[in-house]
Amino acid sequence: MFQSMNGYEEAVEFLPATDTKKVEKRGPKVKFVILGVVIAAALISLMVGLLVWHFAYRMARVQKVYTGNLRITNYVFKDAYENSSTTDFNDLAGKVTDMLKNLYTSNPDIAPHFSECRVTAFSEGSVLAYYWSEFSVPAYQEAKLDNAVLELKIQTVNLRQRTVLSVDSFEAYPVDAQLARTFRTSSCSYFLHAKPGEVTKFFTPGFPNTAYPPNMRCQWTLRADAGHVIRLNFKTFKMDICKTPAGDYVKLYDSLSIAENRLMMTLCGSYPPSYNLTFFSSQNVMMVTLVTDDKGRQPGFMAQFTQVPMTTLCGGMIRDSGGVITSPFYPAHYQANRECVWDIQVPGNKLVKLRFNMFYLMEPNNSDATCPKDYVEVNSKKYCGEKQSFVVSSDNNKMTVRFRSDLSYTDTGFTADYISYDAQNPCPDQFTCNDRKCINKARRCDGWNDCGDFSDELECTCTETQFRCVKSQICKPKYFLCDGVNDCGDNSDEANCGCPDNTFQCANKKCVPQAQKCDQTDNCGDGSDELGCPAVVPNSCSDLAYKCKNNECITKSNPECDSVKDCSDGSDEDTDTCNCGRRPYSRKTRIVGGVNADTGEFPWQVSLHAKNTGHACGASVVSPTILLSAAHCFQDAQGVRYSDPSLWTAYLGLHNQATRTTSTDVQQRSIKRIVAHKYFNDFSYDNDIAMLELSSPVTYSDFIQPICIPEKTHNFPVGKSLWVTGWGALTEGGSGASILQKAEIRIINYNECNQLLENQLTQRMICAGFVSGGIDACQGDSGGPLSSLESNNKMYLAGIVSWGDGCARRNKPGVYTNVTQLRDWIKQNAGL
Ligand SMILES: *[C@@H]1O[C@H](CO)[C@@H](O)[C@H](O)[C@H]1NC(C)=O
Ligand SMILES: *[C@@H]1O[C@H](CO)[C@@H](O)[C@H](O)[C@H]1NC(C)=O
Ligand SMILES: *[C@@H]1O[C@H](CO)[C@@H](O)[C@H](O)[C@H]1NC(C)=O
Ligand SMILES: *[C@@H]1O[C@H](CO)[C@@H](O)[C@H](O)[C@H]1NC(C)=O
Repeated sequence: MFQSMNGYEEAVEFLPATDTKKVEKRGPKVKFVILGVVIAAALISLMVGLLVWHFAYRMARVQKVYTGNLRITNYVFKDAYENSSTTDFNDLAGKVTDMLKNLYTSNPDIAPHFSECRVTAFSEGSVLAYYWSEFSVPAYQEAKLDNAVLELKIQTVNLRQRTVLSVDSFEAYPVDAQLARTFRTSSCSYFLHAKPGEVTKFFTPGFPNTAYPPNMRCQWTLRADAGHVIRLNFKTFKMDICKTPAGDYVKLYDSLSIAENRLMMTLCGSYPPSYNLTFFSSQNVMMVTLVTDDKGRQPGFMAQFTQVPMTTLCGGMIRDSGGVITSPFYPAHYQANRECVWDIQVPGNKLVKLRFNMFYLMEPNNSDATCPKDYVEVNSKKYCGEKQSFVVSSDNNKMTVRFRSDLSYTDTGFTADYISYDAQNPCPDQFTCNDRKCINKARRCDGWNDCGDFSDELECTCTETQFRCVKSQICKPKYFLCDGVNDCGDNSDEANCGCPDNTFQCANKKCVPQAQKCDQTDNCGDGSDELGCPAVVPNSCSDLAYKCKNNECITKSNPECDSVKDCSDGSDEDTDTCNCGRRPYSRKTRIVGGVNADTGEFPWQVSLHAKNTGHACGASVVSPTILLSAAHCFQDAQGVRYSDPSLWTAYLGLHNQATRTTSTDVQQRSIKRIVAHKYFNDFSYDNDIAMLELSSPVTYSDFIQPICIPEKTHNFPVGKSLWVTGWGALTEGGSGASILQKAEIRIINYNECNQLLENQLTQRMICAGFVSGGIDACQGDSGGPLSSLESNNKMYLAGIVSWGDGCARRNKPGVYTNVTQLRDWIKQNAGL
């Protein structure tokens, strides 16, 4: 322990004791006794005050822990250094701690506060020593100590003179003292060394049979042989939802100390199996820590790691006319502390451009403007953050691309095509954007910003199905008119709009649901929805109000399952009805094109296969035995009895059609009963809804969940974003997709839509159109769900895919069955 104070005790001030003596020596003269007592009392209280101040403030101590590593250059690593019980380990650790103590005690700002330091591990390089040092410092001197300890980095010259260790680098980083201590004393601590050619597994305590315990601190020290790096992959990752600042989380360090400046990533929540949670260390060590709080119990994680030979190979000279470059190990996370340079040169008469298809270089606090942390540099311009596909071009046949990652935080990285092109004709048979990106000619003037800089939407003549924005002069699809979303940017698409049906127009021109008129809440923002209202009439339930089981009326918009008990009998929060619309995975995978759904992203999606036809329609799970679909799927046609339940097989939990018989996530059921709406109209497709009863109940899982059925009074406002999903054809007349497709669409104004569709709409229909560009998916499969994420974070069945005008026609809306309108039918026929 630390004893030799070297005279630094003076730095700690003690109260002088002389005051006390003076009090004791007061004379006995009677007339002064009272005065003496008064003075004594005053002095005592002053002293007490001083002592209180001294102990409560001056002496209030803060525990500080710093962790980090230092590099010893005059020792060679040996295997025994991996085992902290060996003499070799303890010899070297003793030298290192002696050196650290010397270093601390020779610094007047540090010496008085030092309590303990210890070496926790060694690794190769020549020898890296990981340590932590603990200090106890009066609160008011904390900042001074912090500075002094962090400054120590530069005193490496002194180190060499005083010890037999040659140290050429020294890092210190403050860590949470409480956390550092619990990790040190944790019984949940593992030391793993990769075995050549073998996969080493580790997992949270209890996995997979029981949930991980609460208030747990675990750490895994991972090592590989010298000359190797660690490849770590999480097979399963299901933890409690992410909470800031605490909650349950896993941290990965590119080091054997838990210093935040070496943190690769913090993981929490749950990741779908399709997310590539693979990481590579930059050296042959890695540290994984687990922290759990007192709530939220989940299965945890299962991880595995292997060692792979260390390679510094990345970047290089490229002399081809085209190809692909990626960040190291893409699509796994790139390593920390890497630099790759590509020197691209294409034949002399051509120019070169680089098209980034995926670009994920996110870091906390990495400013997009200056990219001080990880970046890709092309032609001396730095790029960082998360970006949509973009193109960078050169004015000549050369291009230098530099990728750089710093010590902390890594991401998925990038993939890019380099292409040589003719200056005269950069995009043969395609349209050339200003940045020389090439897009399909059909996308010119279609109202979507496909180039990213609007260059495909300038100087256009608007077609019949388009309107022109006033300020930007851009042509947009008419169905974006009057949907409450400012698409033009100058609101010109939302001017001169009446309010849609069942909505009330406020004095400020805003439209609010009719149900919100006179609900004693200022929904307009200008109070106009609460003007001229009758005095509150109890027990008069309008059609627009939510009705509780006990017939109470709730005027609030969408009160069901919002975790607020609105009905006095609690029927709006009934646990059975509210157990729906849940997506077990809280993360999105990053997939090229963005149209493939994730596994488990739409767990209510069903694929209905007809005998001899294969996938024919979609449906939605609403209970363990009931599916909802479209009536038109079950109409007999061309001699086929589609209305016969025995023709059909339902696949639930399906993601990829190719694995429907092999995937363990899939449950297959035959159909016992089909009930199509009695008034389904074969010609107009009015009342396009059907209920299917399964032969036997399915078991809910991460891949099979029911979607919520909205109440009759549930409001899906115009302009709201929804998801349409299905395996429908990717191109018109083409074959279906193998992977479930998704597209973001938006509810559009009923009247605008009805005009575009030549008055073919009935009240039982809703229209929705594509929101984002670049979607090549069809509008889902008939019978499939139109899923709406509501403010209670559950997905609701807003519609059923009914009819539309072909695929990938971005200017044509699709038509869906209005589920709220048919709520009573669902109740009568499905009992839900
Ligand atoms: C570590 O070293 C001690 C003492 O030499 C030995 O008893 C122990 O088995 C070693 N542990 C491992 C995991 O090699
Ligand atoms: C994840 O990335 C690693 C490393 O690039 C790759 O080997 C692996 O195949 C990927 N896994 C998936 C499921 O894409
Ligand atoms: C990011 O910046 C904020 C505010 O400047 C700071 O509180 C936070 O610690 C920083 N985070 C990291 C990881 O550097
Ligand atoms: C669906 O029908 C309900 C009930 O008539 C109506 O209030 C609602 O506006 C319709 N939905 C859409 C999106 O048009």
